[in-house]
Amino acid sequence: MPEHCLVARQMAASGGIENVQWAELGFGEYLNEDLPQFDYIVMHGVYSWVSDEVKAQIRNFLSRKLRPGGTVYLSYNSQPGWSQAAPLQTLLSIGAREAGVAGNSVNARFGSALTFAERLADAGANYFKTNPEAVEKLRSMKTEDQRYLVHEYLNEQWKPLYFSDVASELNPCKLNFAAYGDPSEHYDALCLNASGLALIESVDDPILRQTLRDYLMNTAFRKDYFLKGGRKLTPFEQRRLLLQTPFALCVPTKHVVAEFVARIGRVALNPEFVSSITGLLEAGPQTLASLMELTKTKAQNFTALLQLIVALVTLGAIHPCPVKPRESAAARRLSISQWLVRHLKAENGPISPRH
Ligand SMILES: C[S@@+](CC[C@H](N)C(=O)[O-])C[C@H]1O[C@@H](n2cnc3c(N)ncnc32)[C@H](O)[C@@H]1O
Repeated sequence: MPEHCLVARQMAASGGIENVQWAELGFGEYLNEDLPQFDYIVMHGVYSWVSDEVKAQIRNFLSRKLRPGGTVYLSYNSQPGWSQAAPLQTLLSIGAREAGVAGNSVNARFGSALTFAERLADAGANYFKTNPEAVEKLRSMKTEDQRYLVHEYLNEQWKPLYFSDVASELNPCKLNFAAYGDPSEHYDALCLNASGLALIESVDDPILRQTLRDYLMNTAFRKDYFLKGGRKLTPFEQRRLLLQTPFALCVPTKHVVAEFVARIGRVALNPEFVSSITGLLEAGPQTLASLMELTKTKAQNFTALLQLIVALVTLGAIHPCPVKPRESAAARRLSISQWLVRHLKAENGPISPRH
């Protein structure tokens, strides 16, 4: 929408960022533009919110505009995690459509749709009795931001997807599944119990492995990387590239908590190891190789260091930064953050530290 482009342009200008362009176009229109081939194409929360026709337009764009060796990031609502609550989305859409007949605003329509669903639940509907996740979702909606809920649920095209379907749809675009994009779920041992792990390890096919993982974890949202013509790295190459990757501190060290919640439960990190890493990053980004040297981590403990780094990325405490940022980057980030705080305050009034 034009307002989105305007706000994005203002935010970029607040940080003096000039190498970005905004276009108010439908996916089907991008192929008519004079665009180069891309190394990366990123779509967060789009693919399961658009019609089959628009999905085909997206795939057409990926086929023609992603450079060989390029990467696509796709995130989408997935199955089987929505199997209990998907009918609730349909119910809310129907409730909102009915309320629309009276000419109500979109927020008022969503409010009526919630009441409509609650009345059904209170009437003892068997759907809610046999699908406790739907009851839980309905309850949690009462405290969530209504603008988000309207955006998320009042969409005629909303449809959670199976990973295997997404992977086979992308195959004709010469895109192959490369990796799951959420660092918190990179280690199977933090996501699956022992029997689940054994099951996954008995399977070689990467698509089937992901499918089994989705059933084991009841995944409701996926973040996937697909590559055009990807070549699998050897463990040696992987390690060499990881060692060259710089990491930057994202929050003051005093805010870094040495534990996080993984699928299998709470995971405690070694607090001394955590503070030695975050302390070193206070002075600026460091590559994994120099963190290894500075913390005197022995080569055979590389895996332990990497696991800690992944945990800190999951916590939002650190982040990989592919190139060493210039001095000016910190000042730019600060001006963008200040602009964002002013913008949020203007829209919502005072904001809590959680934001
Ligand atoms: C669920 S929202 C996600 C928005 C944003 N990426 C995020 O994560 O907050 C889906 C977005 O897809 C956009 N969209 C839907 N159909 C589209 C189309 N045909 N062309 C371009 N954008 C479209 C909508 O405008 C909406 O902003």
